[in-house]
Amino acid sequence: MSIDRLRSHYGFSRMPFGKDLAPGMLHAHDAHAQAVARIQWCISEQAIGVISGECGAGKTVAARAAVAGLDASRHTVLYLGTPGVGLRGIYGLIVTRLGGTPRFHHAALIPQAQELLAAEASERGKRVLLICDEAHLLDAESLEGIRCLSNLGMDQTAPFCLLLLGQPTLRHRLRQGAFAALDQRIAVRYTIGGLTPAETTSYVQHHLALAGRSDTLFSDDAVALIHEVSRGLPRQVNNLAISALIAAFAANKAIVDESAARAAVAESSTE
Ligand SMILES: Nc1ncnc2c1ncn2[C@@H]1O[C@H](COP(=O)(O)OP(=O)(O)O)[C@@H](O)[C@H]1O
Ligand SMILES: [Mg+2]
Repeated sequence: MSIDRLRSHYGFSRMPFGKDLAPGMLHAHDAHAQAVARIQWCISEQAIGVISGECGAGKTVAARAAVAGLDASRHTVLYLGTPGVGLRGIYGLIVTRLGGTPRFHHAALIPQAQELLAAEASERGKRVLLICDEAHLLDAESLEGIRCLSNLGMDQTAPFCLLLLGQPTLRHRLRQGAFAALDQRIAVRYTIGGLTPAETTSYVQHHLALAGRSDTLFSDDAVALIHEVSRGLPRQVNNLAISALIAAFAANKAIVDESAARAAVAESSTE
């Protein structure tokens, strides 16, 4: 099967349910809007925020959407997407991204990162936003190190905004006594849940409309099944919708009906 034949079968101008949506093309369901609003608040207040949610719920997308709205000349965004690099890796990344060369010794690297962070605000007039994605995977030392960074000032305000994005286990980890110092300074906590049934319908329609199909392409029962199996998690909805499109195409159907959705579900559960 070629993707071009599939596209022309449905008359798509581009493939729907892709990962590469521009910030202005996102679906504005409630949990997404709520998460973006909280992230924006954290940025303007230089606060610490935790956004949790299951895999594929839309955490990274929400953070990207909030960042896309920032004035780039007044903000420095440090995105840490690989928590496995350890504390040294995190500090090294921060120093490198801020134009420094990481010092070799641990004891020297920490103040170097702190100084560069502080200089970003005091010398360049920039607000710093540190995003730690997949933060549920951060080890204890890394979490503690991030807390140290956020604890620079004499007062209670951090010199930057810290966002921790992670799966639900992140919230439980932070509750453990060892991280009380960080936990107590978290100003905003928000969990991105799944889409409601009505939101899944509108989400599917939204992606299809972006691909040039504003009419009904998925039957109601097909969308209902996709919603049930995906539990409204956007990435799962995307995957099932694409499989269902392929199944209906292979059966030479013009509409994605329930049997095409069932085929998609059967495929996904054997993976
Ligand atoms: N608001 C949205 N509008 C459109 N697509 C979305 C939206 N939120 C999530 N998605 C889709 O779901 C996928 C998973 O989202 P992502 O933010 O990567 O999940 P997480 O970081 O929670 O694992 C994205 O690649 C995107 O295709
Ligand atoms: Mg993510």
